[in-house]
Amino acid sequence: MNKTIAASPQWISLLILLCSWLLSRIFATESASWLGIDFSPEMSVWWQVGFAMGMTLCLSLPYWWLIINAVFPAAVFYAMDLNWPPIVFMVALLVLVLIYGAIFLTRVPYYPSHPKVHALVEKLVPEGPGQQFLDLGSGMGGICMHLATQRPDCKVFGIEMAPLPWVVSWLRARCRNIPCVFLCGDYQNYSLKNYSVIFAYLSPAAMSALWEKACLEMVPGTLLISYEFGIPGQSIIPTYSTGETGMPGLYVWRMGSNFILAPEQLQG
Ligand SMILES: C[S@@+](CC[C@H](N)C(=O)[O-])C[C@H]1O[C@@H](n2cnc3c(N)ncnc32)[C@H](O)[C@@H]1O
Repeated sequence: MNKTIAASPQWISLLILLCSWLLSRIFATESASWLGIDFSPEMSVWWQVGFAMGMTLCLSLPYWWLIINAVFPAAVFYAMDLNWPPIVFMVALLVLVLIYGAIFLTRVPYYPSHPKVHALVEKLVPEGPGQQFLDLGSGMGGICMHLATQRPDCKVFGIEMAPLPWVVSWLRARCRNIPCVFLCGDYQNYSLKNYSVIFAYLSPAAMSALWEKACLEMVPGTLLISYEFGIPGQSIIPTYSTGETGMPGLYVWRMGSNFILAPEQLQG
């Protein structure tokens, strides 16, 4: 796959959807007048699905884009038959934009980590005063809230870019009187130098840039923990497991050593 396409499949996909919609309109109208066939609006949506799938295959986008580009036009078309009040679609769109709007820039969607992961991360935070923990992309604040309640010796911070998850995390901490600090913003513009443990549950698309930033800013000896996703070009085996079959593990690096840590090394 071409490098530009690989770096921004979301924009390419948007372009495919627009082009396939335009082509299907032209094709349906033109072929109707050439062949004297009366194409129904339903027919034109299936033309669009066909064009979108063809373009996705030609550009060799990963298979999930094929599914997205095929399902999306058909879903929009049939959703219009539901005859629901427009406000329902408006509210749904607004909620989705407030949660997922930033993925056009970050390519990291919101999905919460499992409580078993929170318990495992808690064990990795060194004992003693002065510990500062940061969750990069803190979502609705699950792991931060867990850590702040279980480890009062540790100051807990989360930074989140999506407005709705950030508001929810902030409200949860306020309502339950839990001393977490939730910041709203892009962690790329935030310094990582003050933290003894940094946790990230992002996506493969974000890992190279995160690694570069962590190497530049994190203090040697501090820990970087990534759930599920490793750094491209490094070991592909996570070193900590939740013990749950089928659940991904944690990658842990002690900064300065640049190696993934095995459990026995963490104590040293
Ligand atoms: C997979 S979720 C993880 C949520 C949470 N850390 C957890 O473990 O439940 C990733 C989150 O990172 C956020 N995110 C992605 N890129 C970001 C960035 N550059 N700055 C801040 N937040 C970001 C997304 O909005 C999303 O909520």
